[in-house]
Amino acid sequence: MPGKRVHMKQVKLKHYAPAVLKETDMEVKSSEITLEVEEGSQDVLVKNFYLSCDPYMRHRLTGLDYSHHPSFKIGQVLEGFGVSKVVESANPNFKPGDYVSSWTKWEEYSVIPKGERLTIIDPSFAPLSYYLGALGMPGFTAYVGIYEILKPKKGETIFVSAASGAVGQMVGQLAREAGLYVVGSAGSQEKIDLLRNKLGYDAAFNYKEEEDHVAALKKYCPRGIDMYFENVGGKTLDAVIDNMNPFGRIAVCGLISQFGKEKKDGVSNLYKFISARITMQGFLQSDHLHLMPKFMELMAGYLKANKLVYFEDFADGLDNAPNAFCRMLSGSKIGKQIITIAKD
Ligand SMILES: NC(=O)c1ccc[n+]([C@@H]2O[C@H](COP(=O)([O-])OP(=O)(O)OC[C@H]3O[C@@H](n4cnc5c(N)ncnc54)[C@H](OP(=O)(O)O)[C@@H]3O)[C@@H](O)[C@H]2O)c1
Repeated sequence: MPGKRVHMKQVKLKHYAPAVLKETDMEVKSSEITLEVEEGSQDVLVKNFYLSCDPYMRHRLTGLDYSHHPSFKIGQVLEGFGVSKVVESANPNFKPGDYVSSWTKWEEYSVIPKGERLTIIDPSFAPLSYYLGALGMPGFTAYVGIYEILKPKKGETIFVSAASGAVGQMVGQLAREAGLYVVGSAGSQEKIDLLRNKLGYDAAFNYKEEEDHVAALKKYCPRGIDMYFENVGGKTLDAVIDNMNPFGRIAVCGLISQFGKEKKDGVSNLYKFISARITMQGFLQSDHLHLMPKFMELMAGYLKANKLVYFEDFADGLDNAPNAFCRMLSGSKIGKQIITIAKD
């Protein structure tokens, strides 16, 4: 298949940002590129529709390799989860017109080497963008954290931080379905209303307006905390530990409050682990991918029964991608942050 020369936009890393990330640390550049799918290569050319803004990508903008996600290099096109449509394929598993969830670049079209990490998705099942959230990596993370790590028992209390985000809103709904008392925190009144009125949380508070997090958790979790779905770290974690019931469990999913901090806040009340016999376990959703079919089956049931709602915040076009990524980190968005590049 002969290569096509096209002009297209790409989002690249401009400066490493080990401390504070600014929009200007990324740049949107238009370049002339040859899109080539060589016969026999198994490669697949896709048109990108939606891109996902995920917190782990922040590690990849630092120039430091301290996490399990290696840093992007200066000038490298950003990459991550996406939803795309196949345009041309040298791979028998994919044909033009297929919709796929993808591991793709932040650009308009991408050649996916050997079609790796492409999965065909069904647009009639749910909105395509859901495959980046409710039906994608964040939803699956919520499922793994609850069922594989925390192992809930009906009637227990779960507390969730960053509760209205991509992962948090799914944690809340799965926890409600598991018969738990569900309490969440988020960073604005609008998000608290969403948690209470739309996402099935029994109680919720704005952590930015609570001086004393230990007292706030006492108030909103009157029977103490049996499980904590940890998304933020820092002083929230210390306050949760102080409020944990005997044999409490903590699933450490993420520590977003610690991003860019040279000196990380630590756990200052480790003694409580002994007196309350607390278990704390970190996890990566990617270790549990064999459970994906089970997760999709559960989600199919919820969607059919109209039990699932999902809030998304769409940024329009690659020009707005750096801003969208920073909004996701700062909490200026509501729900799952997505970048729309094209529509069908
Ligand atoms: N372990 C895994 O396999 C895995 C997989 C996916 C995600 N994660 C982790 O899960 C967490 C949530 O990810 P997500 O995709 O759902 O992101 P998200 O919640 O949609 O977005 C991040 C949110 O974190 C909150 N936040 C930012 N700085 C904060 C701070 N200093 N203190 C408290 N909250 C802060 C903000 O919302 P507010 O308005 O509420 O402040 C922000 O919107 C992240 O820590 C991420 O790294 C882990």
